[in-house]
Amino acid sequence: MTGSQTTGRRTVDWERRLYLAAHPFAYPLLRGLARRGPVVRVPRVGVVVNDAALAREVLMDGETYRKDGPGSPGDLWTPVLGPSVLLNMEGEAHRVLRRRLTELFTPSYAEALCARVLAEPLERLSDRLARGAVVDLVDTMRVLAGAVMSEVIGLETRSEEQSRKLFEQGERIVSMVSLRTRRFSPDQVKRARAVLDPLGDIAAKAYASGDEATVMGRMRALGLSEAEARGAAGAFFLTGTETVATLVPRLIALLHDAGRLDSPDVLGGALDLDRAIDEAMRVTTPTPVMLRSVHATTRLGGVEIRPGDRVLIATHNCCRAYGPFDLDRPDPPELRRLWFGAGPHFCIGYPLAMAEIRTVARTVLAAAPLEITRRSAARRVLIPTYERLIVRAL
Ligand code: HEM
Repeated sequence: MTGSQTTGRRTVDWERRLYLAAHPFAYPLLRGLARRGPVVRVPRVGVVVNDAALAREVLMDGETYRKDGPGSPGDLWTPVLGPSVLLNMEGEAHRVLRRRLTELFTPSYAEALCARVLAEPLERLSDRLARGAVVDLVDTMRVLAGAVMSEVIGLETRSEEQSRKLFEQGERIVSMVSLRTRRFSPDQVKRARAVLDPLGDIAAKAYASGDEATVMGRMRALGLSEAEARGAAGAFFLTGTETVATLVPRLIALLHDAGRLDSPDVLGGALDLDRAIDEAMRVTTPTPVMLRSVHATTRLGGVEIRPGDRVLIATHNCCRAYGPFDLDRPDPPELRRLWFGAGPHFCIGYPLAMAEIRTVARTVLAAAPLEITRRSAARRVLIPTYERLIVRAL
């Protein structure tokens, strides 16, 4: 059995439930488009790409398919994050900023950061699981992701309550985006800035102190200006908190539903965790779509694409085309980490996301065998997620 759980005679595909609870109308439409071909022109939506190899072709061509300029996805974020925050840039300026930031999250730095920040809270989590207490992995993960992000931005105090609050602030901004949003209203921009400006001030202070033990201090050492560091802090906060936090409970649920949480490889510590994380990412795609605006006439999968078109890469469709959760099936090359993007905009937080997910998942899996005692799907959220996922060690 894969990707689903049998309750009596009924089989529940929880991932589908999460998507339907989050997007009751858009999700069936999006999945329906997957059946209409690799590239489909959809009125009022744009040109939808459902095929991993073609998605990669779009992502690698930063000249034709762009994230900056009028009508681009950058239009959404520029008013709240400023003009130079990677995800709204292209060309030479983007390359220069990326090059400076590449050294920021090396795998070893990200592992050490997570180990340091998460040591104490994860010890508490281990204790609770060892005592046989019930634990809500959703709330736990919100606090942990909030704590990591606090460290990245340079917030000095970091109680559980503050980490949870930081998470909720990000969630409120992200929840203003729907799959159809092209621009924020002036009121939405005001609300987002009311959260981001004070965080930017804190990040700027950490930057000014220049302490290379902090992420912001490292940005200064890497040659970023204060405005760039501020912008990066906001962009990391918005892109790197909910994505990570929602993935971990989904990973544990997928392993549970595939009958792995009491399997010899998990109990013996022999599970290939990175493979499990990759497979959970493929099935869940925390970033279900990617957007580009078209700047030249071209053909993609037999469809003519013109300047002014909007291309919507349905990452979720591209990844789900390879079937349900299955740890034993290797990924074909065209799929390789597509859930983190590809080419010039490939997720810069990838090492941090992986380090965070690994660190927490190792702690949870060390308490196996585990059972899920209760779970429910969150409604009307942008990133599909459990509202709660209660686990207990057996
Ligand atoms: C499970 C977690 C995550 C997933 C699934 C994810 C996914 C993605 C994807 C798909 C893109 C490319 C978007 C596109 O090409 O349109 C991206 C870009 C980006 N991500 Fe992540 N991300 C995650 C975690 C993080 C974290 C932890 C951070 C930062 C701390 C982060 C920061 C960024 C930034 C700044 C970009 C823009 C890069 C650029 O435009 O050059 N992400 N992410």
